[in-house]
Amino acid sequence: MPSLSAADTAPAIEVAALECRYGDTVVLRDVSFAVRRGEIFFVIGGSGCGKSTLLRNLIGLHPPAAGTVRFFGESFADAGEARRRELLRSFGVLYQGGALWSSLTLRENVALPLEEYTPLTAAERDELVALKLAQVGLTGYGDHYPSELSGGMRKRAGLARALALDPAVVFFDEPSAGLDPLTSRSLDELILHVRDTLGTTCVVVSHELASIFAIADRVLMLDKAAKGVIAEGNPQALARDSADMRVRAFLTRGETEISTKAVT
Ligand SMILES: Nc1ncnc2c1ncn2[C@@H]1O[C@H](COP(=O)(O)OP(=O)(O)OP(=O)(O)O)[C@@H](O)[C@H]1O
Ligand SMILES: [Mg+2]
Repeated sequence: MPSLSAADTAPAIEVAALECRYGDTVVLRDVSFAVRRGEIFFVIGGSGCGKSTLLRNLIGLHPPAAGTVRFFGESFADAGEARRRELLRSFGVLYQGGALWSSLTLRENVALPLEEYTPLTAAERDELVALKLAQVGLTGYGDHYPSELSGGMRKRAGLARALALDPAVVFFDEPSAGLDPLTSRSLDELILHVRDTLGTTCVVVSHELASIFAIADRVLMLDKAAKGVIAEGNPQALARDSADMRVRAFLTRGETEISTKAVT
């Protein structure tokens, strides 16, 4: 039997002793974790704890002050410029708000990465764009402009674009921010569907308990005062069993809010 190389068995993402800072200000230190292939992995924690900062360090938008990030066994920092560009193509990012070009139709928005990175003909591109829009439930909306869509539909369109190049990993920054609970729920289901049908590894930054409990396989919890990781694991198990009050309080805050409301 052929032996598996490290790249075949390595986790999707492996982070070791990562330090994130802005100038002299350390936001996170000694962050280590691994994201398994095909996992829905949440980065959670209160406002300002460094979730978005971690994401920016992972995807190379902001260089880590120390530590290593490996994608499928390969170090991002050690890769040459050309290889780094290739690696960047293997992940999609869904920015807050969808970050679509407002002057382009949905079809044109989704086609953009295909034009830039693939040698596909216009006809092949059209076919692929239609497929991507179908994957996110937006068939028939290709000619619409972002301003003609609801917030939830814009997120879906952003996801179609993030999926355009068939990425191995998709990063989501606060996907449900600004969405009503029902729309947020359907976006959760879409993330689950993408993972189940395409095998995409999903890294989601969020503090929405409903999403965490609905779709996260595992979570990494950051803390602002600790400037680092205070928990890692299955959210249900952490909410029930964590010895750390901060972790249990965060994961059970809905229950506290509800019981407080019941009293007042
Ligand atoms: N560009 C920047 N320059 C300097 N400091 C920054 C910058 N961006 C964020 N920070 C600081 O880093 C810390 C972490 O911010 P970050 O945006 O990563 O938090 P977050 O967990 O994503 O919060 P939220 O849930 O509110 O989005 C905060 O103290 C913030 O003020
Ligand atoms: Mg943030």
